[in-house]
Amino acid sequence: ILPSLACAEPELVFAGAPVGRLAARFGTPAHFIDEDAVRSRARAYREALPDAEVAFAGKALCTAGVLRWIAEEGLSLDTCSAGEIAMARSVGFPAERILLHGNAKTPEDFKAAIEYGVGRIVVDSLDEIAQLGPLARAGQQVMIRVTPDVAADTHAAISTGTEGQKFGFSLDRSVPENLDRAVAAVLAQPSLRLTGLHCHIGSQVSRVDRFELAARKMAATLAHVRETFGVTLRQLDLGGGHAVAYREGDPEFDLGGYARRIRIALAFECTRHGLPLPRLTIEPGRAIVASAGMTVYRVCSVKRGSRTFVAVDGGMSDNPRPALYGARYHARLVRGHTKASHVPMSVVGRHCESGDVLAENVPLPSDVHAGDLIAVPCTGAYHHSLGSNYNLVGRPPVVGVRAGTATVLVRRESEDDLLRRECPAGMPVEITA
Ligand code: LLP
Repeated sequence: ILPSLACAEPELVFAGAPVGRLAARFGTPAHFIDEDAVRSRARAYREALPDAEVAFAGKALCTAGVLRWIAEEGLSLDTCSAGEIAMARSVGFPAERILLHGNAKTPEDFKAAIEYGVGRIVVDSLDEIAQLGPLARAGQQVMIRVTPDVAADTHAAISTGTEGQKFGFSLDRSVPENLDRAVAAVLAQPSLRLTGLHCHIGSQVSRVDRFELAARKMAATLAHVRETFGVTLRQLDLGGGHAVAYREGDPEFDLGGYARRIRIALAFECTRHGLPLPRLTIEPGRAIVASAGMTVYRVCSVKRGSRTFVAVDGGMSDNPRPALYGARYHARLVRGHTKASHVPMSVVGRHCESGDVLAENVPLPSDVHAGDLIAVPCTGAYHHSLGSNYNLVGRPPVVGVRAGTATVLVRRESEDDLLRRECPAGMPVEITA
């Protein structure tokens, strides 16, 4: 399940590079990302859905180096802020292959998208449609985000397709801001060209039938739009959210089954309604990069109390996912095998909270000691991007590795970086009436 993590003896090897040497060279903690693994996941998606547009959800890992690989693999890009658009722009990511998302786009987000000529903007409220209309260039393609009311088998914080959460327009016409009102509002803006519908039911969703149900509902919704407004929408974006196996035994997402069942569901529903088959877009983020990543820490201390705590030099500032979503990880020692028996331990971080846990109850050799290196696999998605400076700990570097060669994609955050925005003498600002 973790293709980039070969359990080589006597020491862990990552993308052809001995992890001990990577850590010696780049320090710890550090995020490593296997370039070939990212590229092969991107290709697997394109091959599984050859007629579809595959848009990498940049929020999962938005650095210039990775976006360059994604562009080279022919994928599109889902962005959700002026910052992500700026990153895409910095590598010349083709604007027509970019989508802009978000439930609260700021004027700066719209401006960045319009200036760069972002292909499609996905609108998520009537306010947004009213704001975008006068700003957009003539012919700006727009899609409308729909709440398909499909429950996803995932953590509530990342379940996004049901009634009562903040994303999308309701299909329920008794709701004040429903899809029909959104369609009418977009059609009334002369600069906007309505081309499709979008939904995203959630993230880390392993059940293919949830996506299949969303696809059927969305196809029926395309038919509803045509009946009500006489407009045939040619694009359907089913979002991302495909689960990855973080640990051995976690359910694997069945990409082949997904591709097959989505295709059949859409063909069936579209035929039933006499609709042309829409161009499909999907937006996997995690599924492209998660398993290609690995984070390496150094053990600061091992405390053998009522439980054994292996405390490392990172934590919730580089991986808040256990604290946010109860996410579970595996961890292993980087050095080669030992005769010591494995006993359950908790790998914890350096931050001032007891919820700062990286891997709970993982088997580690009983001779683990301060100075050892610990590797946590499957950290390519939502680690660098969710990272923070909590406790004024600098963020780790992101290092690409390919065939034993390493390239820094994002350098380590220094103390100078951490102090850069400070105004030690205070910065008086006059407020005029
Ligand atoms: N499309 C849209 C509109 C999204 O909002 C998202 C994720 C995706 C695609 C990509 O979802 P993915 O394929 O990566 O699951 N921080 C959380 C995940 C938040 C996902 C937000 N939206 C985590 O670490 O689990």
